[in-house]
Amino acid sequence: MFTIITGSQFGDEGKGKIVDLLAKDYDIVARFQGGDNAGHTVKAGGKVYKLHLIPSGFLLDSRVLIGPGTVLNPEVLVEEMEMLEDAGIPVTPEKLGIDAKTSVIMPYHIEMDQLREAARSEKIGTTRRGIGYAYIDKVARDEICMADLVDENLFRARLAEISAQKEAAISQMGGDPSIVLDDKNISHYVSLGKMLAPYVTDVSLEINRGLDEGLNVLAEGAQGSHLDVIHGTQKYVTSSSTIAGSACAGLGVGPTRVDEVLGIVKAYITRVGAGPLPTELEDEAGKHLHDVGHEFGTTTGRSRRCGWFDLPLVKKAVYLNGYTSLALTKLDVLTGLDPIKICVGYMFEGKQLDYPPESTSALSKCIPVYEELPGWNTDLTVVDSYENLPKNARLYVEKLEDKIGVPIKYVSVGPAREQTFEK
Ligand code: IMP
Ligand code: MG
Repeated sequence: MFTIITGSQFGDEGKGKIVDLLAKDYDIVARFQGGDNAGHTVKAGGKVYKLHLIPSGFLLDSRVLIGPGTVLNPEVLVEEMEMLEDAGIPVTPEKLGIDAKTSVIMPYHIEMDQLREAARSEKIGTTRRGIGYAYIDKVARDEICMADLVDENLFRARLAEISAQKEAAISQMGGDPSIVLDDKNISHYVSLGKMLAPYVTDVSLEINRGLDEGLNVLAEGAQGSHLDVIHGTQKYVTSSSTIAGSACAGLGVGPTRVDEVLGIVKAYITRVGAGPLPTELEDEAGKHLHDVGHEFGTTTGRSRRCGWFDLPLVKKAVYLNGYTSLALTKLDVLTGLDPIKICVGYMFEGKQLDYPPESTSALSKCIPVYEELPGWNTDLTVVDSYENLPKNARLYVEKLEDKIGVPIKYVSVGPAREQTFEK
C-alpha cells in the first residue's frame, strides 16, 4: 500500500504527529520534498522531538528514507542523528537511507538566501536555510548531490567547477565570496560526507521493490499545499512542490501505485512568513488561537499568524491533492471561543466566490464571508473518542466534513499519540 500525506493549508497542520501515529502500520516512511525549512514536532513517551529533516516515522520500526526531490543540509542531518542517538534512538544505515541524487545545501546557499531576503523590498519571510538557492542549483544543474558529497574527489572537483560562478554571484549580492572555497567549510563537508556515505541509497528502487513485495509505504509531505512552488500563493511560497503529485515525482513512484492521499487540516489556519491569509485575525480570537495553540514556528521560532478556518483554501487543496480522507488537528484549541466562525467564501470585486482566485494579488484583496457555529467550553484534551466530544464540537467537525466533501478519518485534540482518535 502506498499512502501520501500532505498539509492542506500553509504547513504546521500537525503532519508530524499524524505520521508518527500511522507509522506503525508502515514499513517505509519517506520524505519527498523540502529540506530543513520544515519542522515537525513529535511527542511520544513523554518526550518532545523537534526535527527538520529526519522523517517523522523515525520513532517506530519503519525504515525512513530521504528522497532525491529534497534538498539536504548534511550538518543539520548529522546534528539530528546525534540528538536522537543521545535520546537512545540509534540512527543506523539500516534505519535511514538518503538518495544519491539528493541535492546538498552548501554554506553559500544559506548565505545567498539571507542576502536575497535582506535585499527584497517585499520580503517572503523565508526560513533562511538556503532551500530556494539549493533548488535553483538543481534546476540549473549546478548542484552538488549526495553521490558527490560522499566521494571527496568528486566533491572537490564539482566545487572547483562551480565555485567561480558562485563567488561572482555572492559578490554581486554584496556578500563575502570567500565562503565558497573556505577551507574549514570544505573539510567539514568532506568529513560529513564520510559519515553519511553508508546511508546513500536508491530511494525509488527501494520503494518500488518494497511495494512489489507487499510492503506499506508512507510518503510524508513537508510545508503545506498553498506553499507549493507551482500552485501556491506565489511569490509567497517555498521552492518545492508540496502537493501529493510531488510525492510520485520526488520519490520516483508512478501515480498508478498510489492507494490513499490523506490531507492534514488544522481546525483553524496559520501561516508563518508573508503572503495572503484572508481570515487572519488581529483580535482576541486570534490571540486565543495563537496562545492556546502555541503557534510558534518549529524552525524559526517566529509567531505564526492565525485565522478562522478557510474553506475555499481547503477546497483548493482537495483539488490539488485528490484527498481520499482527512485528519482534523488541534480541535481542542477552539475550546472557549464562541461563536466559532468558518470562512465559507470571499467577497471580491462585488462578487461572492466559493473558491480562491488564482491570482495571489486577487486573493490578498478577498474579504471572508463567515458562517457562525456555537462554541463549547469543555476541555477536549482529555477526550478519548469521537462520541465523547461535546455536541457542538461534533457539529463543527461534521459541518467541515460536509462542506469539504471528503471524509474526516481522524480527529486530534492534543500533541500526544493518545490524543488522536478515529471518527
Ligand atoms: P523557504 O522554504 O525557507 O524558502 O521559505 C518560504 C516560505 O515558506 C516562508 O513563508 C516560510 O515561512 C514558509 N515555510 C517554509 N517551510 C515551512 C514549514 O515547514 N512550515 C510552514 N511554513 C514554512
Ligand atoms: Mg512545521
